[in-house]
This record gives sequence, C-alpha cells and structure tokens, in this order.
Amino acid sequence: MSYFDAAQERLRALQAKGQATVLSIETSCDETAAAVVRNGRQVLSNAVYTQIPIHRRFGGVVPELASRNHVDQVGPVVETALEQAGVGLNDIDAIAVTGGPGLVGALLVGVSYAKGLAYATGKPLVNTHHILGHIAANYLTFADLTPPFTCLIASGGHSHIVEVADYDRCVLIGRTRDDAAGEAFDKVARVLGLPYPGGPELEKLAQTGDPHAIRFHSAFNEGEGFDMSFSGLKTAVINHMSNARQRGEDVNRADVAASFQFAVNSILSDKAVRAAVENGKAAGHGGHGTLALAGGVSANRNLRQMLSEKAQKRGIRFCCPDFKYCTDNGAMIGSAGFYLLMAGHISDLSFNAVPYLPIA
Ligand code: KG4
Ligand code: ZN
Repeated sequence: MSYFDAAQERLRALQAKGQATVLSIETSCDETAAAVVRNGRQVLSNAVYTQIPIHRRFGGVVPELASRNHVDQVGPVVETALEQAGVGLNDIDAIAVTGGPGLVGALLVGVSYAKGLAYATGKPLVNTHHILGHIAANYLTFADLTPPFTCLIASGGHSHIVEVADYDRCVLIGRTRDDAAGEAFDKVARVLGLPYPGGPELEKLAQTGDPHAIRFHSAFNEGEGFDMSFSGLKTAVINHMSNARQRGEDVNRADVAASFQFAVNSILSDKAVRAAVENGKAAGHGGHGTLALAGGVSANRNLRQMLSEKAQKRGIRFCCPDFKYCTDNGAMIGSAGFYLLMAGHISDLSFNAVPYLPIA
C-alpha cells in the first residue's frame, strides 16, 4: 500500500475516534519550534529554539542564516518536544507542519523534515497554515472558545480582520493595504535605534512615554471600512525625527514610541471591535459576538488592554492568547493541525512550502 493510502486509512480511524495526539513543527521564520498537542487543546510540550540572538546584529532576519539554523535545530527541537511530553513517535497519531506563509527557505526545512518523518512512520501529514496556527493559540488558552468568532490577526507579516467561520475556514473582513502592524512596529523601532525584534523593545520604551505627546495621524484609517494602513504612520514618525534633527532639537524617544503605539493600537482596536459588533449582528448573535486577538503583536499589553476595554463597552467577549503562545510556537500549529486533521485535510508528500498564502 502506498504511503498516502495507508495515511488515509489511519485518518479515517482517527476521525472515527475524534481524538489525536499531534506532533507539530514550525520553522516559518526565526523560531525552530515543535510541540505535542492532544485533541487540539492540551499541550503536552512546547519546545522553541529562538534564533533572535543570531539575527539581532543584522537588525532583522537574514533568510539564509535562518534556514541554516533550522537545519541544525529541527531534529533536536523535535526530540526535546517528544521527551518533554514523555511520549515516543509510536504515541503520535499525526504530524502537522507549517507549510506557509513565511520565508520559503525556512519553511522548507520544517516541511522536508515532517515529510521524512511522516513517510518513515506512515503517519498522516497535515500541511498547516501559519495564520490558522496563530488563531488556534486562542483555543489553547480558552477551552470553551469555538468558531464562529471575529479575529484580529496582527503579526510581522499580517494584519487582517477575519471571521473565523470554522476551524479550517476564514472569511476576510479587512486587511492592511501596506505594512503589517508588526512590520510597522519593527521599522519604527529601528528608526528609534532599538534592537531587533523591535515590537517588544518599542513597547518597553513606550511605557515611560506620553501616548498623547504627538498626534501621529493617518487619514486612510478614519473611514468606515475595515481595511487598514500603517505605512503613513511610519513615515510620519520618520518625518518627525528628521525635522527635529534638522532643527537641532532633542527628541523624547519614549514619547515618540508611546504616541506611535497609541496610534497603531487605536486603529487596530477600533476597527476590530467594530467588525466584531457588525459580525455579531450579521450572525444573529444580537451584537454579543466574540473577538479574539492573534499573531506576534498580540503580546503587546497596550493593545490587549485597549481591545479588552473597547470590547467590554460594546458587549463583546474578548479573548487573547497566553503570552507563551503569542509569538511563533509549535503548540499553536499542533492545535490548528488537529482540527484540519479531523476535517480530513491531510497531504501526500508532494506539497511544497509556499511563501505567500492567502488566508481567505
Ligand atoms: O507572529 P510572529 O511571531 O511572526 C510572524 O508570523 O510574523 O510576529 C512577530 C512580530 C514582530 O513584528 C514583532 O515585533 C511583533 O510581532 N511583536 C510585537 C510584540 N511582540 C512581538 N509588537 C508589539 N509589541 C509586542 N510586545
Ligand atoms: Zn507568526
């Protein structure tokens, strides 16, 4: 019997049981991560090797270095995940791997490793969308959260507002027209002389600044639509810095950081909460919808706070992932992978890593 025929047979048995222990692998950017997750919700282990110190001196991720480090680390990280979960490969029912979007050379390392493992063990292989993984970080944190709900995804590569219609299906409500929110955080952090990755560093600096010191404003975001734009805000910060330099004035970097953070988070939270209200109405929830936050920027405390307050005012339930599941990790892929598995989305060994993969 071919690998795929055998995997399909195993899939049917798992679907009949409705249960599976999934080994997941994530290498889409600068974290080599693996996890063991049971039934999409119970994290038995979550091993993350971060390459941040390697890329820091270059001020950003160097794709070639990322790929090489994934090659070195993927085996040991998978072994660590199995060991920490106290399981062997025999206890694993399926393998989930991030197939995109991300850096293609980095993704390929995880995908090739997962294919090899699937072929050698005969286990079903689940090609998992990175963003479905970020969304699933909420399932690991809120045991009772189930689709449908509205979700704001804000990461280094994505800023989307979607309706999570089901575990394997999103409907696009709005998206950034230019930079992703995390990308804007990183670029502005760089202008402020902060090390990579800029988002968390900018958040730290903003804590001592006044969010109302400077009004960074972007007309595009004032409309009633749900699309967003962040590159204008980034340019406004760059202009503010260079104007001050030309005039020989000192810049209060903490005020700039706090004001920029306030501007970005106001746009994200206003649009996302309004989308959840509308979506709740449309879905017949009487306006009492649920809004979840996902992606690396979900680690931003100011954004979590703003969303939580605005959602509460509008009668919307707000969920955001535990801090350990905000930035890239394996557990979120193990959760998303489980639900894809149960819906029958398994792959043969011919699929490829895809750098750009639409979410909806
Ligand atoms: O989801 P993620 O780990 O990788 C991608 O899929 O892109 O997101 C990384 C992004 C980076 O842009 C990083 O600066 C941003 O998330 N980020 C933050 C914070 N923590 C991570 N941005 C603002 N505040 C934070 N605390
Ligand atoms: Zn990510």
